[in-house]
This record gives sequence, C-alpha cells and structure tokens, in this order.
Amino acid sequence: MHLPLTTPLQPHSTRVMLLGSGELGKEVLIALQRFGVETIAVDRYEHAPGQQVAHRAHTIAMNDPAQLRALIERERPHLVVPEIEAIATAELEAMEAEGLVRVIPTARAARLTMDREGIRKLAAETLGLPTSPYRFCDSLAELQAAIDGGIGYPCIIKPVMSSSGKGQSKVDGPSDVAAAWAHAMAGGRVGAGRVIVEGFIDFEHEITLLTVRALGEGGEVQTSFCEPIGHIQVQGDYVESWQPHAMPVATLHRAQAVARAVTDNLGGLGLFGVELFIKGDRVWFSEVSPRPHDTGMVTMATQWQSEFELHARAILGLPVDTRLKSPGASAVIYGGVDARGLVFDGVAEALAEAGTDIRLFGKPESFVKRRMGVALAFADDVQAARSKAKRSAALVRPRAA
Ligand SMILES: Nc1ncnc2c1ncn2[C@@H]1O[C@H](COP(=O)(O)OP(=O)(O)OP(=O)(O)O)[C@@H](O)[C@H]1O
Ligand SMILES: [Mg+2]
Repeated sequence: MHLPLTTPLQPHSTRVMLLGSGELGKEVLIALQRFGVETIAVDRYEHAPGQQVAHRAHTIAMNDPAQLRALIERERPHLVVPEIEAIATAELEAMEAEGLVRVIPTARAARLTMDREGIRKLAAETLGLPTSPYRFCDSLAELQAAIDGGIGYPCIIKPVMSSSGKGQSKVDGPSDVAAAWAHAMAGGRVGAGRVIVEGFIDFEHEITLLTVRALGEGGEVQTSFCEPIGHIQVQGDYVESWQPHAMPVATLHRAQAVARAVTDNLGGLGLFGVELFIKGDRVWFSEVSPRPHDTGMVTMATQWQSEFELHARAILGLPVDTRLKSPGASAVIYGGVDARGLVFDGVAEALAEAGTDIRLFGKPESFVKRRMGVALAFADDVQAARSKAKRSAALVRPRAA
C-alpha cells in the first residue's frame, strides 16, 4: 500500500521526518518534496544542510529517547527516516511497536545497523555470509588477546560506534596495538569502550551495491540492484566513487546474493548501501547502510533516478527504476580549513568542462577534513569520468569567509 500523495502543510498532508539532515538527507528531502510530501528535518546542530530545505526544522539530541519521543509525538510524521546511526533506536522500536510511527526501512534494521556489532553478528553468525574474521573487545588486554588468539596482523581496529573511519586504525604489529586502542577510545561515539578488531582483507576492489526494496505492481516487495559502485577510501573515508564498476558476471551475482540475503532479513521498504570487498571471484560482506550511501552520490550523475529519488519512491510505495543513464564518477570536496562560513573560489572553472556538476552542501562550519561538497561527472567511460570529477573537485578552492 502506498502512502497517499497530498499537498503539503494541510491537516491531511503526508509527513516524513528525517533523523539526520546532512548532505544525503538534504537530497532525500528534495526528492520527497517533488512528490508533494511535507518534510521535517531533524539534526543535532542548527542549519544542517537538510534543515535548509525542509518545511520545518528541529534541533535535538537524537540519541536522547525522551527528546526523540517528544518531537515525534508533536509532529506525528507518517514515516520516520533515519539518515545517521547515532539515534535512540530502542525508543524508535518501542514507538513502532506502539503503532505511533513507521520507521524506514524498519526500526529493527535501524537498531541492528546502529553499531557494528548487531549487523556483523547478523551477517556472519545468523546469515552465514563471508566477512573478515572479527572479535569484539572491551579493553586493551582483551584486544591483544583477540589478536594473539587468531585475528593476527595486519588487522583493523574500529570503535563499535563510529562512521567515516573515525577512531579506526590499521595495525601491522604488536607495537601499534596500544595506540590503536587509544585512537578508538577517542574517536568512538556512544558506547565508548568497545571495539571490533577485524582481520585485514587484502581486497582488490571495494564496492557499494545499492539495493532497493520497493513495491511491485501487485503490491509485493521486489528487490532490485543498481550497477555496482566502485570507490576509494582514505583512512576509512570515501574520496572517490564511480559507476558502473566492471565485474565478472559470476562475481556480480555472488555480490547480489549477499546483498539480497542482508536486505531480505532487514526488511521494510527503501534503498540500502551494501558495502562489499572483492578479490578475484571472492566477495566479503563489510557493512550496510539502510539508507542512501555517501559513495552513491555518484548516482546524481549516472542514473535516471538517483539513490535519493529511489529511496523516496520506495518508501512512498512508488515504482522504481534502477537503470544506469551514463558511466560517471564523484570526487569529494573537503573544507581544507577550520572555519565558520566559507567562500568557494573556482566553481565556475570547475563547471566549465562539459559533463561536470557540483554540489555544495551548505554546512555552516568547515573542518580541514569535513566533506563540504562533491564534484560529479559523466562521460563515455568510467576512466574519463573519474579524471573529470577529480579535475573538477580540485578546481574548487574553499577559504574562510
Ligand atoms: N577488515 C578490513 N580489511 C581491509 N580494509 C578494511 C576492513 N575494514 C574496513 N576497511 C577499510 O576501511 C573503510 C572504512 O571501514 P568501515 O566501512 O567499516 O568504516 P565506517 O567508519 O563505517 O565508514 P563509512 O561510515 O564511511 O562507511 C572500508 O571502506 C575499507 O576501505
Ligand atoms: Mg563503510
């Protein structure tokens, strides 16, 4: 059953609340507004990108159950769409069980993916999917024991709750372990004190397989896949992505089977970003976002329906089309400075080359390594598009206002 499509700002309007309103949420909000949806953008800081385009904006601590419940009771959204992991997912689960809200894709999926533990145990232990070897540890001594007891070197240590590579390090030998533990303690969010240590996978490529669960004509849930997105990460943060990433058909089918197993289990409607490591014909599951994925920003240049439009359509119960329009690429534009308020020089030059585009996210504060924008490019082939996107990104020069 699809949600009624209405005009916004009326008592009968269909209302959708985004929890987290960064650059990805902003695009989802715009896509929803194109279907007349009344949108509510929530973030933990004022003037977040999505708050600048929504009908209403609220700033709360989304990991505080009482604040989250109070806001949902006040706004009464028909759908709650998490954009980040750090939210009070147990409260969302309770509210979903009470029939107060529908969480996208489901409150259970939001809880399982909120930290690395729920989703890793589901993928590896419940579903039996191939992953890196891993252990969860609560102290430096436990970490050392886990490495000595089988994980070995090199390995990767990550706080159980963090994103964009924060608090993450690669450890090559015993002398790095204490520093990696300290780095994880400093970089984790809530739940500090617990880490995952993973055996290092010497992959050739890593991909994001955008997977959509949407209603078919008969009202049944259908799963469809976008072309694989290849990407490069530096210190756990994405810097470049492209689509399609060329893969042998048998490996692609294996990747799709992994994505399907995970998303079937998580259930609900919406788009998922399934992160996979590839070597030869081997595929490892890494993690999944039950929402649009940062590396998927490339789809704004490559698909008839971007990942944001696919998410909006799927959650509204509308048909989706995952087909590629053109090969393309994305390259991240970092702030380069710590400043409140930026000026971007060079944008006209960056856009001068045919087949390029730029998104400036509008974040009110810049850090050296904060993602402030992205360059997009399409071309006849992925290699040309990657070069173009990188050239374009490099021409944009942010400076303090
Ligand atoms: N076990 C591993 N072996 C090899 N490389 C890894 C491993 N785990 C993570 N990485 C590398 O680090 C990157 C970030 O890891 P991961 O996706 O788990 O962290 P994250 O903080 O959730 O990142 P994001 O939020 O940006 O997706 C991966 O995309 C991959 O490049
Ligand atoms: Mg990741």
